[in-house]
Amino acid sequence: MTGVVPTPTDTPDSDIEFASRDRISTLQLERLRWSLHHAYTNVPHYRRAFDDAGVHPGDLKDLGDLAKFPFTTKKELRANYPFGMFAVPRDRVSRIHASSGTTGWPTVVGYTANDLGNWAELVARSLRAGGVKPTDIVHVAYGYGLFTGGLGAHYGAERLGCTVIPMSGGMTERQIQLIADFRPDAILVTPSYMLTIADAMVAKGLDPAATSLRIGVFGAEPWTERMRDEIEQTLAMDAVDIYGLSEVIGPGVAMECVETKDGLHIWEDHFYPEVIDPETGAVLPDGAEGELVFTSLSKEAMPIVRYRTRDLTRLLPGTARTMRRMQKVTGRSDDMIILRGVNLFPTQIEELILTVPALAPQFHCVLERTGRMDTLTIRVEARPAVLHDQYSTASTALRTLIKDRVGVTVSVQVVAPGAIERSIGKARRVIDNRPTD
Ligand code: DLL
Repeated sequence: MTGVVPTPTDTPDSDIEFASRDRISTLQLERLRWSLHHAYTNVPHYRRAFDDAGVHPGDLKDLGDLAKFPFTTKKELRANYPFGMFAVPRDRVSRIHASSGTTGWPTVVGYTANDLGNWAELVARSLRAGGVKPTDIVHVAYGYGLFTGGLGAHYGAERLGCTVIPMSGGMTERQIQLIADFRPDAILVTPSYMLTIADAMVAKGLDPAATSLRIGVFGAEPWTERMRDEIEQTLAMDAVDIYGLSEVIGPGVAMECVETKDGLHIWEDHFYPEVIDPETGAVLPDGAEGELVFTSLSKEAMPIVRYRTRDLTRLLPGTARTMRRMQKVTGRSDDMIILRGVNLFPTQIEELILTVPALAPQFHCVLERTGRMDTLTIRVEARPAVLHDQYSTASTALRTLIKDRVGVTVSVQVVAPGAIERSIGKARRVIDNRPTD
């Protein structure tokens, strides 16, 4: 392993959030050159992959040249488990995180002290954009541990100057107690767990709209505009979206601004985004929907080149900030249900459920196979005030909506409030009971 190429100097400043596109592109090109060179020089995988593709970091003359470089996927990260993707000697790695992954090896990521500093800065920037103030009390209910949510949010909130409550996920009763006693201004949590907490408040006879919470910073899983309305009304707060993934850094890759709530500004001074056609790998123009791909621009411990996120979105021009936005993520291509030739995402089901007043956004999409035929059953909870004899009307309403809007016939099973297992972190929406052969 050769010596580490120094990170380009750029003191973190909020000024960059409003920089001209020219300044952003110039900085991106300078950093991209450094990052590709760093990866090529210090990570055997990248050296091999670039050589096999016949490209060299020196071939990058402008940002568009990045398209010549090979993609990285989870497969390569797993093949280099645990520390094979690191570009610095192990003793320069200050922290490790890992994603559990449902199959195979976990994906391991590492950070130098500088990486941790940049990450905290980006989460602080994100929270500020989301409307959190340095004087606020912030309740962090993302899980602490190997998951990047808890610690990522924590150090960002501290960096912003907030008073941080490191609550982590779970222990719902305790969450409610501490929200009541410590009176936090903001909560950082998955949207599905926020609903679990709100439901538990109602069950205790408390009004979720009466808490001290002013802002919710929600991410780690897809959630829809209708879910935003639901949360904002139930909890009387501003609900903003934060996006990120461990392989790229963790939370704080992109963030929605509270004043616009119109998609997430990607912090383009540290992460270079592309949207590609997932079938052909071709780079798509801004505005077209496809798979989001990221290249890190400043990461030392684990540079990542053209990482295929599997998340589907579109790139849009800046609004509240000059950096480009990504539209709210529709879903991961892994979560896409293909039912008798029709593609659908749990987010589409969530949107439709929330148009039926009798139904609550607690649901599972259960896939089964009968003979050669795949079937989808939506198991969804009724709202607490709904009488049992109204369940079949609600079920028919949702089935009809799904047939009309998505074009597939599904079964809908309305169940009593509390019957769907609650998430304390990322919600699991799809239950695939089909045989694996
Ligand atoms: O979920 C990092 C994170 C923590 C982001 C807390 C935001 C808040 P991973 O566990 O590696 O990292 O999972 C990353 O989660 O590829 C998306 O599929 C999904 N995801 C994350 N944020 C959002 C979001 C964290 N705002 C994967 N909207 C990503 C939709 C999201 N999906």
